[in-house]
Amino acid sequence: MVLVTGATGILGRVITLELIKKGRLVRACKRPGSDLSDVRNSYRFYTSESNFFFDKIEWINLDFNNYQSLCVLLKDVEEVYHCAAKVSFDPRDREEVLETGIVSTRNLLRACREMCVKKFLFVSSAAVLSINKKNMELQINNNYNIDKTYSPYIISKYISEKMVWHACQKGLNTVIINPGMIIGSGNWKKGNSQMIDVFVRSRFTFSGGTSCVDVRDVARIAVSLMEKNIFGERFCIASENVLYKDLSAKIRRMIGLKKPIVCPKTLLKTLKPLRMILGMIDHKAKFLTDENIEFVSERQFYDSKKLKNRIPCSFYSVAESIRFHYGNYLTYKANETKNEDSREVLYEAD
Ligand SMILES: NC(=O)c1ccc[n+]([C@@H]2O[C@H](COP(=O)([O-])OP(=O)(O)OC[C@H]3O[C@@H](n4cnc5c(N)ncnc54)[C@H](OP(=O)(O)O)[C@@H]3O)[C@@H](O)[C@H]2O)c1
Repeated sequence: MVLVTGATGILGRVITLELIKKGRLVRACKRPGSDLSDVRNSYRFYTSESNFFFDKIEWINLDFNNYQSLCVLLKDVEEVYHCAAKVSFDPRDREEVLETGIVSTRNLLRACREMCVKKFLFVSSAAVLSINKKNMELQINNNYNIDKTYSPYIISKYISEKMVWHACQKGLNTVIINPGMIIGSGNWKKGNSQMIDVFVRSRFTFSGGTSCVDVRDVARIAVSLMEKNIFGERFCIASENVLYKDLSAKIRRMIGLKKPIVCPKTLLKTLKPLRMILGMIDHKAKFLTDENIEFVSERQFYDSKKLKNRIPCSFYSVAESIRFHYGNYLTYKANETKNEDSREVLYEAD
């Protein structure tokens, strides 16, 4: 039996599908408010037998703070894929990001050891690979408050990785993956899939860049590392390094929108007082914290050299990936409009 946390997320759902297709028994974790219909619908993009595979999944509610229930969930489980995390750079989510990231990993690792789980895969982030450890430790030791170089999201991944290494030293077979920005389908209103919507709605973008990777590649590689029993290591998973402006331009070009406009870092930084006022009027402006500005203005470069030396792997290009997932997004939008229209017809009939 395999347990997947965050199985309703854009990555967790594809890892779950990959495992189910291989005939594995999967216990997939959700929360009482999770949207399972979104998961079921998005499976249509990945397989022609979406309902058949979806119905094979054992869905179960997960509460990371309830240690006893974690142990119950892990009964008969040999492998764990820990994908759950609050993926957010919104300052309002600061506590939740840290809490979900750190407490969930700590409690889950403890329960895994108690319940004799054999293999554990942790989904971290490529962003952790480029941190300055000294600055990070300084920020953590000062209760995350001084020198806000790193966002709570990156801090939570850094601390979680340390806990996973520790568990590995204590005898649990662990492997860490560090994916770049994941391009996937579903969860369109929250999570990272919103990125597509943001690039379409806003003409403004940032001067930095990062690595991207298709969710199908991340899922396939995660399962492959576990199958091949590659433990005690971490692997960056990145397809291509791209600038946000090029990514935005690619998406916008597909629907005939104009090229994006880049907001230079210096402009964003010097507009601090304006940002504060805007933040009071429109919450979105509050996203432009110092650490977020640094993050989106930096050019981060990652590669999968280490991974390619260990397992055979190929990647979808960013262009292919965008074509596929953006196409899925348009299908979703068209269905949404159709549903709204039919609702209106119903109201008119009333
Ligand atoms: N997306 C990216 O670009 C990216 C890049 C690198 C690494 N990663 C990492 O990859 C993993 C999966 O990310 P994703 O993009 O699939 O994220 P996502 O679509 O936002 O999904 C997050 C998942 O975590 C669950 N979750 C959030 N808070 C939880 C909590 N307190 N208790 C239990 N479950 C909780 C969510 O459940 P609900 O459905 O109930 O909300 C959902 O299943 C994360 O660890 C993320 O940090 C993501």
